Amino acid sequence: MDSWDKFRREGPEKSKEESMSELKKEIENCRKCDLFKTRRNPLVGDGSIYSRVMLVGESPGYYEDIQNKAFVGEAGKILDVLLVDLKREDIYITNVLKCHPPRNHNPNRQEIDSCIGYLYRQMGIIKPKIIVSLGKYATDEIFKKFGLPFSRISELHGKMFHANAEFGKIIIFPSFHPAVACYRSEMIDILKRDFKRLRGLINGEY
Ligand code: URA
Repeated sequence: MDSWDKFRREGPEKSKEESMSELKKEIENCRKCDLFKTRRNPLVGDGSIYSRVMLVGESPGYYEDIQNKAFVGEAGKILDVLLVDLKREDIYITNVLKCHPPRNHNPNRQEIDSCIGYLYRQMGIIKPKIIVSLGKYATDEIFKKFGLPFSRISELHGKMFHANAEFGKIIIFPSFHPAVACYRSEMIDILKRDFKRLRGLINGEY
């Protein structure tokens, strides 16, 4: 179908704002898994929908659920240290799961399968050039989506992986989840090294 046929059939393309606000409404009314019963606020994402960089975490924690903002708890404090001069409002931050799992349980297969389509749609709207997957859950799902072989986050972190999205060429950059530094303090240096590389990548140094 050429672009004129597409236009005639589907009408003008929706703006990013329109598409994201439709998606937000859907997520707010989502009942595909049991998490809607216990969450206070589904967290769609924060930051700029025009950013070239999308950070994907695991799931909103207790404070994110209350404040309806990404990474505002302990992991968020670590993320802020790692971002250095990267401003949150210049990137887009979201999660694999949009609802807080009680007692921060690890996302299970049913929860991920119910929710993952929202993340794919966010990617299609934002069309990032760099996707940063934080931790094994986000990395595993994003690698699967782009046909990359997932091994272990300890082997993949801090490296660039090239992939083809429907909207163009992208780079996937996995790192550990920042929360790991809350219970393994030695991990902060590894995270800092990864994020230094990431800032270089964003600034076009690679
Ligand atoms: N951990 C995540 O993975 N995401 C958040 O938004 C907060 C903590």
